[in-house]
Amino acid sequence: MMKYQRLRGVKDVFSPESGVWERVIGAAFSVFKLYNYSLIITPTIEEISLFSRGIGEASDIVMKEMYDFNDKKGRHIVLRPEGTASVVRAYIENSLPEKSDLFYLGQMFRYERPQTGRYREFYQIGVEAFGDATPYKDADVIKLASDILNSVGIKDAVLNINCLAADAGYYEKLKSFIEEKRAMLCEDCRNKLSRAPIRVLDCKKEGCAAATAGAPLITDHLTPEAGANFLKIKELLKGSGTAFKVNPLMVRGLDYYTATVFEFTTDKLGPQQNTILAGGRYDNLVEELGGKKTPATGFAMGIERIFEVLKASEGAPALSTLDAFIVVDKAFIDRGFELTSSLRKAGIKCAMGHEERSFKSQFREAESRKAKFCVIIGENEAKSGKYSLKDMQGGAQQEITAAEIAAFLKGRP
Ligand code: HAM
Repeated sequence: MMKYQRLRGVKDVFSPESGVWERVIGAAFSVFKLYNYSLIITPTIEEISLFSRGIGEASDIVMKEMYDFNDKKGRHIVLRPEGTASVVRAYIENSLPEKSDLFYLGQMFRYERPQTGRYREFYQIGVEAFGDATPYKDADVIKLASDILNSVGIKDAVLNINCLAADAGYYEKLKSFIEEKRAMLCEDCRNKLSRAPIRVLDCKKEGCAAATAGAPLITDHLTPEAGANFLKIKELLKGSGTAFKVNPLMVRGLDYYTATVFEFTTDKLGPQQNTILAGGRYDNLVEELGGKKTPATGFAMGIERIFEVLKASEGAPALSTLDAFIVVDKAFIDRGFELTSSLRKAGIKCAMGHEERSFKSQFREAESRKAKFCVIIGENEAKSGKYSLKDMQGGAQQEITAAEIAAFLKGRP
């Protein structure tokens, strides 16, 4: 029989790793509730043109990384590489309220070279906030991102911010500066120079970094309005105790950003995938995709990368524990079944085996499932009406009535 294997660049996630995923998703969802964002679910498949228009024909994602195919009717479909364009499409198509604060969770697909923290199918948790053009919203969205990372347990991520709203002369100035050093650039950057000179700033290759050293900085060439907004955002972040670094070389891989952009980075992953969360303002995308001109800002974080960072700081995840495992004599399986359901009603995390088995084998299962206590229902217990409760760490055993078990186990660490 042939054995099947998962495809390259994708992942199976299961316990105990999935326990960390549950924690990350749960923490993010609680923060979304505090900020009053509502869940939006959009399909994983879309028409390809949504992304080629939305993200930019010339971006790496569109040029090299799309998972596209023709369906049975010959429609050109893509597995979404990101969430923003899809959410904007849904916002326009469903005439959602002009002011909408939305969050999402789901798979994205990019045909990239797989490595730690870089997959072909990966999960993003993201937000898109429509209808608020003020710098307060930029600061609020960045604060939301930072609150999520903190509540997930990531304390040492560095927040980089930049603004991309340059005045008319900036790009020409930048282009002619880099043009003079064209020979030092990698082939990719030589191609980028004419269509998006700013992308060259972001290249990590030695020659390109040397070529752009001393290049005019975008933050010195912001439009007056963008400059004032950027200043206000920085003040608001400072005022709220959110540490950040202005990084005028930070450019994003998607074309839709119009002003503030930001990234949270870590040194726990390789240099090519050290960004765990990224986003920014995109005030033209709704209009470009056929809606009314609407200001918008948002971000997305990659769950796989968050997991890798947590693993590096917390160590390998532990199996989740059980408050109690019910060990039963074969004559009392029904009684055990009733007890598990009444304990669960009282909020006790418990389990039992339903097969007729020796006590020894049941205790073994209790240990492997990390049960803190075992409740034993044997002949003596059934007669006396009291159950034995065994502490699986110390080994101490006591007699206890069914009614007392829940109260005893509740509130134990
Ligand atoms: P992005 O920077 O392309 O932005 O991706 C956001 C995050 O998704 C990255 O910081 C990273 O954590 C994760 N990610 C990206 N590619 C991969 C991959 N191949 N494997 C694992 N994780 C990955 C966006 O997608 C924008 N839609 C963000 C946004 C929302 N901007 C405004 N609103």
